[in-house]
Amino acid sequence: MTFNKIKFYYFSGTGNTLLVVNKMKETFEAKGVVVELHRIEKAGSIEIDPDCVLGLAFPVACQGTYPFVWDFIEALPETHGVSVFMVDTLGAFSGGVVGPARKILKDKGYNPLGAREISMPDNFFLSKNDPTRNETKKALGLKKAEKYAMDILTGKSSWKRIPVISDLVSRISLGKTTWKVLRKLFKLKIDTTKCIKCGLCAKLCPVQNIEMKEYPQFQDKCVICMRCISFCPKHAIFKGKDNHVFYSAVAAEDLIEEV
Ligand SMILES: Cc1cc2nc3c(=O)[nH]c(=O)nc-3n(C[C@H](O)[C@H](O)[C@H](O)COP(=O)(O)O)c2cc1C
Ligand code: SF4
Ligand code: SF4
Repeated sequence: MTFNKIKFYYFSGTGNTLLVVNKMKETFEAKGVVVELHRIEKAGSIEIDPDCVLGLAFPVACQGTYPFVWDFIEALPETHGVSVFMVDTLGAFSGGVVGPARKILKDKGYNPLGAREISMPDNFFLSKNDPTRNETKKALGLKKAEKYAMDILTGKSSWKRIPVISDLVSRISLGKTTWKVLRKLFKLKIDTTKCIKCGLCAKLCPVQNIEMKEYPQFQDKCVICMRCISFCPKHAIFKGKDNHVFYSAVAAEDLIEEV
């Protein structure tokens, strides 16, 4: 399949997905394809350009993805055969996103070009965080991203769906209860002795869960994307009984427009 332009919509909590997106963009552009990047959390309702391929990229969360990413996919307009590809990044395993996302998009009239899941460092269970292992995993992940972009360009990619099982697994991340339980288990806390009231956490939050009063205050919308925890310059935010280990793959400035 030949195409000249991609509109690539992505969300990245701590930067893994952004690195993959940038690697794919670089690979596409080296082959003469124009790539426009857009943030899912800022996108609002989008208009589909029939002459562009649509790209989607996001992290795996709870075997699927974050509720606002599902909302974004579900709200995409219907089309007559616009081509779409997806890529997700994950720490280990996901069973509930590739198939269900394909079904949603196919039902809306898209032409699924390819889906790939790329292992990157785990940004959630950080107690066994090993920087050297993370660097190796990242390098391997970026090689896979480059190969995936080439496979899309040369028509070698595919997007399969295992019915029933993947739909059942997708219920974990599609269900509201999962996120309620997680919010309880990993309640965010601020160490006010460390916080310098800079407001960066509120700017970074993709779901407007943080309100700046004297100190940041958390509402009840957190999806544990890890951004505020990872990028607080004073490491003043923790989830539950955290072991105070942090992970990020990019700088905070790379994830938001203005800091
Ligand atoms: C709340 C949460 C849930 C996660 N669930 C999974 C999971 O089910 N399977 C998995 O392999 N990785 C899981 N991960 C790890 C992330 O998918 C992985 O580290 C991803 O590359 C993070 O991308 P980002 O840096 O772009 O946010 C989870 C991470 C978080 C924060
Ligand atoms: S980013 Fe950290 S230091 Fe800045 S307001 Fe938030 S918690 Fe405080
Ligand atoms: S409060 Fe923090 S962890 Fe929760 S969604 Fe917002 S940025 Fe992500």
